[in-house]
Amino acid sequence: MAIIFDFERKVFRLDTPQSSYAMYISESGFLIHLYYGAKIPDTDLIYLAKRPNTVSFSALTADQKLTLDSALLEYPTNGISDMRSSALSIRGFSGNSATDIRYRSHRIYSGKPKIPGLPATYAENENDADTLEIVMYDELWDAEITLFYTAFNTLDAITRSVRVKNNGTKAFDIERVHSSAVDFYDDNFEMLHLEGRWGKERTPVKRRLMYGLQGIQSKRGSSSHNHNPFVALCRDGWTEESGEVYGFSLVYSGNFSAEVEVDSLNSTRVLMGINPTDFGWHLDAGESFCTPETVMVYSNEGLGKMSRTYHRLYRNNLCRGEWKTKKRPIIVNNWEATYFGFDDDKLVAIAKEASELGIEMLVMDDGWFGKRNTDNCSLGDWYVNQDKIRGGLKQLVDRVNALGIKFGIWFEPEMISPDSDLFREHPDWCLHVNGRECSIARSQYVLDMSRKDVRDNIFEQMSKILSNANIEYVKWDFNRNLTEVGSEQLPPERQKEVGHRYVLGVYELLERLVTEFPKLLLEGCSGGGGRFDPGMLYYSPQIWTSDDTDAIERLEIQNGTSIVYPPSTMSAHVSAIPNHQTGRNTSFKTRGDVAMAGAFGYELDLTKLSEEERELVRKQVRTYHEFYDTIQNGEYYRLINPTEDKSNPTCSAAWESVSGDKRDVIVTYVVMRTSVSISRYVRLRGLDPDLTYTNTESGESYSGALLMNAGINLSWNHKDGDSTVIHFKAL
Ligand code: DGJ
Repeated sequence: MAIIFDFERKVFRLDTPQSSYAMYISESGFLIHLYYGAKIPDTDLIYLAKRPNTVSFSALTADQKLTLDSALLEYPTNGISDMRSSALSIRGFSGNSATDIRYRSHRIYSGKPKIPGLPATYAENENDADTLEIVMYDELWDAEITLFYTAFNTLDAITRSVRVKNNGTKAFDIERVHSSAVDFYDDNFEMLHLEGRWGKERTPVKRRLMYGLQGIQSKRGSSSHNHNPFVALCRDGWTEESGEVYGFSLVYSGNFSAEVEVDSLNSTRVLMGINPTDFGWHLDAGESFCTPETVMVYSNEGLGKMSRTYHRLYRNNLCRGEWKTKKRPIIVNNWEATYFGFDDDKLVAIAKEASELGIEMLVMDDGWFGKRNTDNCSLGDWYVNQDKIRGGLKQLVDRVNALGIKFGIWFEPEMISPDSDLFREHPDWCLHVNGRECSIARSQYVLDMSRKDVRDNIFEQMSKILSNANIEYVKWDFNRNLTEVGSEQLPPERQKEVGHRYVLGVYELLERLVTEFPKLLLEGCSGGGGRFDPGMLYYSPQIWTSDDTDAIERLEIQNGTSIVYPPSTMSAHVSAIPNHQTGRNTSFKTRGDVAMAGAFGYELDLTKLSEEERELVRKQVRTYHEFYDTIQNGEYYRLINPTEDKSNPTCSAAWESVSGDKRDVIVTYVVMRTSVSISRYVRLRGLDPDLTYTNTESGESYSGALLMNAGINLSWNHKDGDSTVIHFKAL
């Protein structure tokens, strides 16, 4: 059992292979945090909790035994003398929000429970993880708060979530309920997070912790391009390969916040969960509320190992369905090839080229439905545009299938255009606040996904399309932020629930879809990677990483994304030049080498390729098959971080994939901006020092020890945008 309870000391300790997490129950029933870090054998840890409580302003608990204000609290609550940001605030029947929860009972068992209605990591077998449930109780509000902790047995990951249950006879309002809280004794950390914008998602940024509050949030209704639901605390002296790093990743696709607070005793609190701004939940007698899950990862080998732990966990214990492990098809998507200007013959022409080149699936993107020829109409009218797809969808899919090519399709299920039959029939189905104007973005409103009738309608329309032809893939897009987040169906005291109910509704619809069509490969998308989060990965094992398909820009985007998410989840396509977003010209080879680091495909008009380019596609397809297992199932190492390398004369990116048996190694090096008279060496990672590795192209052989300690020599002339891929094999 990875979880123990020391009865005498009332200490809980959770262990993973290389980390421990501990807390204890104080005499008066408060849950006091003791430790999170490298693995320890002890339970005699209470001495750690003795902290100064000399400040008379800081109130003592009624039994005068504890100063909450200076204690490290396991799940801090509002209004009872801890003055830092709290994880939980419940406004009870008296109108007050002082919330006081004390230990009642606990339970330790094998396995991991599901969270009703929410995506979460799972244990494939009971023995893969152990769970601790601690029941806390607020006597006044009759609120039962269950804290869930699951420790994975082979990964340094601990998950957290919380359930609030109203055991009383009177309703109460949850005002904030974070999924996790962790108090650290010190503030010797940098905070690392992934910021961005449309076309430039997930750039890692770090800042030294400062006294006071710092953090990130989304209020956009989705996790967003701007911030990913992830922060890491990196202990001073950390690097990519060494030092302590604590990751906090929220399995959620809606408004979130990560609040990091340093107090006057230099302790640091990290809260992670649903953003309390504009959130509330009215809990009637007998009702329960469950939070999403935070996945905490501990690494004592720097940021790189933290990433590899997330990669394994998210690939094996979050993604589901047959595409979790099944080899992904090479896709050609027609968006950048044709935008809205296509018809059935054009798609068949692309499919014909695809079949000659070894590409396996054609994805028909936006513009096939209603009367949509530009982005100002028809969302919600999910029936085929017979003017464009003459003869109907089945006929088109059959024609494509006859060429040996699979067929995929685009939907934007959560949206409604004012110019649509659906809106004309149901103008109240979009999110809105009665009496206020509805803001509009990309000529569209957002459907009220908290409503069952809305979801039923969209599901029926999608289901009809998907049952009508052999469609094996869906790209699920989402192209605006939520505004005027009100729902016609909820009473005023429940309007603060709409944002979260929206997300629950989306999850329910996704679940219905993957249950009804279990063979479907789902690809998430939100104007590129605007909803690239663990919540979506539970339904769609791959997500369109960014609308910026420029290979050089993608280096930074994919590098940042890899901090939490594995290569198999990052959809990456070779597109045309000049690149449609940046106007940059990059060689066909470099575009292929960069896209190969993700779920690989093409996003250009195959019918316009030169003979030389067609040959390069064939070569890339062969390489994809040869490298697939190592890249998609191996371990990923960041060797040169392109965001940080910008200050070097030659600014580059490099990464490495190592197969499970360490015998296959693929190194990719891309020069973003070249310079003359420089030399460059890169040390490899994760090899077996005792094996001899042979460069499959040059035939040169070196020991793993040499490649890791001296590295490979890349000091030859590269031009801007050049890429080199080196494949080592150990026999
Ligand atoms: C945004 C997506 O990111 C693109 O790939 C494309 O599907 C467009 N939407 C279509 O409107």
